[in-house]
Amino acid sequence: MQLASTQLPRYFSPPVKTRYTVGMTVDLSFIICEKIGAESALRYSLILTSWNQGNFDRSRNQKNAYIKLNVLMTTMESPFVRALTEADLEFAYKLNIGERWNDRKEDLLRMYTYQPEGCFIAEVKKKPVGHVFTVSYGKLGWLGLLIVEAEYRRKGIATQLMNKAIDYLSQHGAETIKLEAATHVSELYRKLGFIDEYGSLRLSKTVKKPAPQKKGGSMAITKENINKIATFDKKYFGADRTKVLTSLFTENPQLCLASYDKATIEGYLMCRKAENGYNLGLFVCNPENTQTAKNLLQAGMNSLGNTTLYVGVPETNKNAVDLLTGHGFTQYSRSIRMRLGPELTNEKIRGIFAIGGPMKG
Ligand SMILES: CC(C)(COP(=O)(O)OP(=O)(O)OC[C@H]1O[C@@H](n2cnc3c(N)ncnc32)[C@H](O)[C@@H]1OP(=O)(O)O)[C@@H](O)C(=O)NCCC(=O)NCCS
Repeated sequence: MQLASTQLPRYFSPPVKTRYTVGMTVDLSFIICEKIGAESALRYSLILTSWNQGNFDRSRNQKNAYIKLNVLMTTMESPFVRALTEADLEFAYKLNIGERWNDRKEDLLRMYTYQPEGCFIAEVKKKPVGHVFTVSYGKLGWLGLLIVEAEYRRKGIATQLMNKAIDYLSQHGAETIKLEAATHVSELYRKLGFIDEYGSLRLSKTVKKPAPQKKGGSMAITKENINKIATFDKKYFGADRTKVLTSLFTENPQLCLASYDKATIEGYLMCRKAENGYNLGLFVCNPENTQTAKNLLQAGMNSLGNTTLYVGVPETNKNAVDLLTGHGFTQYSRSIRMRLGPELTNEKIRGIFAIGGPMKG
C-alpha cells in the first residue's frame, strides 16, 4: 500500500546517525506523534521511496524536526487481522501448548463456538502468528487466549488483535470488557485503557485418594434445570452465561453438580477435563450458605478421583480462598482481573467461588 507523506505522523525524532537511502526499510518505532493514540502504539516498518531534507535542520531541536517521507508500507512486517476459523484451531492449540496453558483442543473448539465471529487471527505474510478469543454476554464482554508467536512479539501485533476484539465486543453491545491478565504483561492492557480490579489467584491440588463416592443424584444437574442454574448464576456473575453453562453441561454432565434447598438452587459447580488434570469451576454459591460451598467442593473432588485439580479464585472472596486452601489447594500463580469501561454494579464477588477460566469470567 502506498502511503502519502501526510498520512504519517508528522513529527518525529530521527536517529542522528542514520543515513537514509531510497529502498531502505525504516523502523519508525521512534515516531513521536502529536496525538497519543492508536498511531503511537503501532510500529511502522516502511520502505523509503524518497525523502525530503528541506525542512530538516540537524543543528536545531531534533525532536521537533519536520521531515517528509514518501514510503511504501512493507507487507513483511505489517500484520493483517482476520476472523479465526475452525481450521485455525490446530494452530491455536500449538500456541497454547507452547505457552504450557492447560486447554485441550476440545476446549479451544468450545471457546470458539461461544463467539465464532469474535475470535481473530493475526497474519504476517499470510502465515498465522497470533490469536485472541472473545465471548459476548451482551453489556458485558470477555476476552482472552491472547498469544503472539515468540519471534513476532513487541511489534504491536497483540495490540492490533486487542483493538479488533474490543471493537467486536463493543459492536455487540459491550459497555464493560473484562479479562484476566498475566501480571508481567498487564501493561499491554493498561495502554489500551484497562484498569485493575482485583487479584485472581491460581491454585492447585493433587488428589491422591478420593473419598468413597456417595450414591444418589441429589446434586445432579439436569438439562431441564440449566436455565434455573443460569438465572442463579446471573445474580452473582452479573450477566447471562446460559451459552457457557449449557455447553459445559452438555459435554460433561457427570462433572456438573448443584445444591438445592427444596426447589431453590443454593450453588453449583461445573468441572471439566484439562490438558493436564481437571479444572474446577465455574463454582458459584450463595455466600450466606457456606456449608453448601463446602459440600459442593467435597462432592466435586470426590467425583474426579486421582488427579490434579486447578482452580482460579478471586482474591477478594476471602471465604472462597479459605475454603480452597482449607481443602489443601496451594497457590502456583496470580493474575490481575482488569476491566475496560464502567464497573459492573450487579456483580457479587462473594458468590464467585471459582472462575470459569481466563476468558469466560
Ligand atoms: C503478551 C503478548 C501477547 C504480547 O504480544 P506482543 O505482540 O508482543 O504485544 P505488543 O507488541 O502489542 O505490546 C504492546 C505493549 O505491551 C507491553 N508488553 C507486551 N509484552 C510485554 C512483556 N512480555 N512484558 C512487558 N510488557 C509487555 C509493552 O508495553 C508493549 O509496548 P512496547 O513494545 O512499546 O514496550 C505476547 O508476549 C505473548 O503471546 N505472550 C505469551 C502469552 C501471554 O502471556 N498472553 C497474555 C496473557 S494475559
